[in-house]
Amino acid sequence: MVKQNQSTISFLLLLLLPLLLILAISTEVEGANKLFVFGDSYVDTGNFHNSGSYKPPSGMTYPGAPAGRFCDGRVLTDYIASFLKIDPPTPYSLKNSSNFQNGINFAYGGTGFFQTLVDGPNVSVQISSFEQQIQQNVYNKSDLETSLVLVNSGANDYTTFALKNMSFLEIEKFTESLVKEVVVNLRRIQSLGAEKITLTLLQPIGCLPTISVATGFQNCIDLLNLVSTNHNKLILQNVDDLNKELGKSVFKTLDLYNSFLSTIQTMQKSHAENSTLMNPLEPCCAKDSAGFNCGKVDDKGQKRYTLCEKPELSFFWDNVHPSQNGWNSVYTQLESSLGQLI
Ligand SMILES: *[C@@H]1O[C@H](CO)[C@@H](O)[C@H](O)[C@H]1NC(C)=O
Ligand SMILES: *[C@@H]1O[C@H](CO)[C@@H](O)[C@H](O)[C@H]1NC(C)=O
Ligand SMILES: *[C@@H]1O[C@H](CO)[C@@H](O)[C@H](O)[C@H]1NC(C)=O
Ligand SMILES: *[C@@H]1O[C@H](CO)[C@@H](O)[C@H](O)[C@H]1NC(C)=O
Ligand SMILES: *[C@@H]1O[C@H](CO)[C@@H](O)[C@H](O)[C@H]1NC(C)=O
Repeated sequence: MVKQNQSTISFLLLLLLPLLLILAISTEVEGANKLFVFGDSYVDTGNFHNSGSYKPPSGMTYPGAPAGRFCDGRVLTDYIASFLKIDPPTPYSLKNSSNFQNGINFAYGGTGFFQTLVDGPNVSVQISSFEQQIQQNVYNKSDLETSLVLVNSGANDYTTFALKNMSFLEIEKFTESLVKEVVVNLRRIQSLGAEKITLTLLQPIGCLPTISVATGFQNCIDLLNLVSTNHNKLILQNVDDLNKELGKSVFKTLDLYNSFLSTIQTMQKSHAENSTLMNPLEPCCAKDSAGFNCGKVDDKGQKRYTLCEKPELSFFWDNVHPSQNGWNSVYTQLESSLGQLI
């Protein structure tokens, strides 16, 4: 009798075992199963239709044809999604009733926190689109609490400032006003119900080929990297203050500054030792001597750009955007700090 009971219990346990395993597995993958993205071309995966992101040679490495990324392949959004083990969120402009389960990407190339030279939705307008989705009950409270939000913007604000003002005397004041606007936007995303919000730190803008061309792609311009480090210092202080105020770490940062810089430095060393490897400051898809950008074709249908032989050896795809290889290397640098985001 007793023996029979015991075997009944073991039998029940055996039946339950797969269920227990499933429960264990599902708590393990719990972290974030949706990704919402705001910002510019570093994270846009298809919202800017009338742009180079939808023209060759963009997308030549992945997905194999132009598909809306300012890159030969995957960008930061794709790598963060792969970290979450989900497909990249649908670009907002392509959203329909059956493809919003992984979140939405609201990012739009060329935009900033303020108005820029591109007439696209700034971060605040992007957040309004997000708010609209929430109001339409596309996502519920628990969806929002468990999602990861990624915000990458600011570089285009500096470009716009530099082109409009031509003077760096006012730059510190501008950084202060920009960071204030960043904080307004972060607060707003949190007030909509998101609890895991990641802001990227500004990349070293003095290393972008559009800048380093002045040194023949030999060096980054330190004075401009200082703009990034000052911006980032102020961001870190403000994020810290926001978290203290909330009493919990809702806001995290992702260090694009040091991950870009150390990847570039490593590749510079390799290039110095082996000249068949690419100089990381040199873009793969370069403007030709006439000054056209990557992807530009003239009225006669002639390509006005040159393409490197092996995009997979480059760091920069074009004058401002990393290639897939560049993003992949940056992601490798960041990987150890991604666990804390979810
Ligand atoms: C929704 O978009 C996907 C592509 O993301 C497409 O394959 C699908 O046919 C669309 N569905 C509807 C209902 O429009
Ligand atoms: C963002 O864009 C909207 C619509 O064009 C505009 O009203 C708003 O002032 C902009 N926000 C900032 C901070 O520039
Ligand atoms: C929220 O929506 C998700 C689907 O996105 C669903 O699985 C979940 O049960 C919903 N939660 C609540 C509390 O309604
Ligand atoms: C340029 O500088 C002036 C002050 O010198 C400032 O009022 C203006 O907003 C700046 N322009 C941009 C685009 O930041
Ligand atoms: C230099 O790099 C190329 C391309 O990756 C590689 O095939 C070659 O073996 C390298 N040469 C040396 C001497 O390491």
